[in-house]
Amino acid sequence: MSSSTFGRRPFLVGSGLSLGALLTLPSAGAAGSKVAIPLAKLEALKSVGGSIAIKVRDKLLLLVRDGATTVRAFNPVCTHRQCVVAFNAGDKKIKCPCHGSQFDLDGRVIHGPASRPLEIYPAELVNEQVIVTL
Ligand code: FES
Repeated sequence: MSSSTFGRRPFLVGSGLSLGALLTLPSAGAAGSKVAIPLAKLEALKSVGGSIAIKVRDKLLLLVRDGATTVRAFNPVCTHRQCVVAFNAGDKKIKCPCHGSQFDLDGRVIHGPASRPLEIYPAELVNEQVIVTL
């Protein structure tokens, strides 16, 4: 058994919660595989404007509930110098606390010093599950 803190189990950053019922779904495409996370395990995403950082399969994800039926998934590692960004519901921007870069909900840079967009993972909200293609 691995002594890794996270192993292959999902990890909710800062919350200490376990997702437990994470499912891996077959993927239609060759690239990536789909992971289904029950919305019931993501309290922060139950209302529009909520966000949460979680770790799934050793990848850190920033999930943002941007609409009643939509969710977005980002690699929250800033493309400037690798600080972890966070979503600000007040102005609907993703901001880096280190040097002030800002990104829109398509991951595009709207304020530097970062010059490259955030990596985005396809995500959808289906039957009370957040499905992310990693
Ligand atoms: S690490 Fe994000 S702006 Fe510098």
